[in-house]
This record gives sequence, C-alpha cells and structure tokens, in this order.
Amino acid sequence: MAALRALQGEKLAWLLAHPVPVVSLTFGLPEPGDIAALRRAGSRVFATVTTPAEASLARDAGVDGLVVQGSSAGGHSATLDPVRIPGPIPTATLLRRVLREVDLSVVATGGVDGPQAVRALLDVGAQSVAVGTLLLRTDEAGTSPTHRRALGDPSFVETVFTQAFTGRPARALRSGFVSRHPDGIVGYPAPHHLARALRQAAGAAGDADRLHLWAGTGWRSAPTGPAADVVRHLAGVVEPVETPSRVVEPIETPSRVVEPIETPSRVVEPVETP
Ligand SMILES: Cc1cc2nc3c(=O)[nH]c(=O)nc-3n(C[C@H](O)[C@H](O)[C@H](O)COP(=O)(O)O)c2cc1C
Repeated sequence: MAALRALQGEKLAWLLAHPVPVVSLTFGLPEPGDIAALRRAGSRVFATVTTPAEASLARDAGVDGLVVQGSSAGGHSATLDPVRIPGPIPTATLLRRVLREVDLSVVATGGVDGPQAVRALLDVGAQSVAVGTLLLRTDEAGTSPTHRRALGDPSFVETVFTQAFTGRPARALRSGFVSRHPDGIVGYPAPHHLARALRQAAGAAGDADRLHLWAGTGWRSAPTGPAADVVRHLAGVVEPVETPSRVVEPIETPSRVVEPIETPSRVVEPVETP
C-alpha cells in the first residue's frame, strides 16, 4: 500500500507540474485536497462511478464531472469496492439514479452498441457518451490479434464479470479459463501481476481460452475499419456499419452530436490493460 501511495504521489506531482486538460480517475478517489490542486493547475477532474453512492462521494471530493459506468461495460469495473461484483443495471437506469442525487456533468458509458443507445443516454441527461468495446476491432486499436479474432468468433456467446485474471471484477467474453475459475479472487493488483505471464503466453500462443478477452455486452456490434467511422455512426451521421453478427439499424432522425474529446478518453491497451 505504501508503494501504491508513493506511486500515486508521483503521478499527482507530475500532473501538477505538467497540467493536462482532463484528469480521469478510476478505481478510487484521491484526497479532496489533491483534486482541488489539480483543478487549480487548470485540469478538469472526472471520476468514474458505478453507483449513486459513489457519485455522491465523488461530488463531495470536489470533482468537476462524472463518468457513469453501467455494469454492461467491458473491461474492469470502476467500482470503488473491488470485492463487490456490480449488480446488473442498465446504464440509462444508473444514470437516472445518479442524476437524481448529483448535479454534475456526466459522461455515460457501458454497453453502448449503436446510435440508439447513444441517443437514449443523451436523452436521460448525459452530456456525452463514451465507448470502449465498439472500438476494439478498429484499425487504430491496439487490441491483440487473438482478442480481435475472439470478438468476431461466434463460439463466444456471452460476456460475464470475472475476477480470475486480475483480482478485480472485469467484464470479459466467457472463456474456458473464466468458467474454470468462478471463485472470487481479490487483492488487485497482486493477482494482475501474478497472472501476467499466463496472459502473455496465451496472447503469444493465440490461445483465446486463457486470454483476458475484455468485452462489454455490445461486443457483437464491434465493427472492423477506421475508428472515425464508428464515431460518425454513433453520432448518427453515416450509414450503419456492418458487424460480424448483424447490421445495426440506422436511426430515423439525426441524433444529437456526441461530444468528442472534451471528455476523458482512455487508451485501450491490447494485452496488458490493468
Ligand atoms: C479492452 C478494454 C480495456 C479497458 N481498460 C480500461 C482501463 O485501463 N482503465 C479504465 O478506467 N477503464 C478501462 N476500460 C473501461 C472503459 O473505460 C469503459 O468504461 C468501457 O469500455 C465502456 O463500456 P463498453 O466497453 O461497453 O463501451 C476498458 C475497457 C475495455 C473494453
């Protein structure tokens, strides 16, 4: 823990010396004084939350805005309690509940599979919408070849929360490894580091059965091609993109434009995403 705190201190010092437009927090909240210092340095600070209670904590800590992450999101849940597997909740429902408690700018994320989902979240009150899974097969994504193949492989039939790879709940395609290790493993980040060799070997061997195949519930709608096409499609300005399993229906009226990069975006790493 002391090492982790020292690392956080180093990151904070760096960000205060080299301010960036947006600092996005996940997995925890720093001290309110640290958030205030980042804001004084000129950064807008966003925290990812998965419940109304976490949203209230983030507001009380002084953030500028929230990333509200529904349980259908791919990859690690941002839950502040890594022992808790988030209960199933549609992102729009969570967003409604959060907005009843907290009056902050909100980026909604989790399970977005097309422009209708974007429009629904904007209609509930999100200022913008973020996606992860829909970009995983695009040209620009750093997704490993094994992960890419798995996302288009019809033999994967569902996504589930698993703690097996890292000790933190994360949504992934159900593989043999996930099914064989259903018990809660806690203690992130230690299991994450301990299992690294396994993940690296699985990636190198093209063994999707043992690789952490992070994916949100919208994975079947993830297309190949340029990322810009996905963003344009989500904003409702182009024809639907062909996906491996189905074609997303176009929406009838142009939706509100998705705000682009004012909000925190995260680089999706291929094999070693925390
Ligand atoms: C492959 C992958 C890696 C991710 N890595 C991170 C990460 O390192 N940090 C983080 O806060 N969120 C991470 N996320 C979660 C995303 O920030 C976002 O909440 C999620 O992708 C949104 O849901 P969607 O995947 O259904 O679009 C990751 C998601 C995916 C799919």
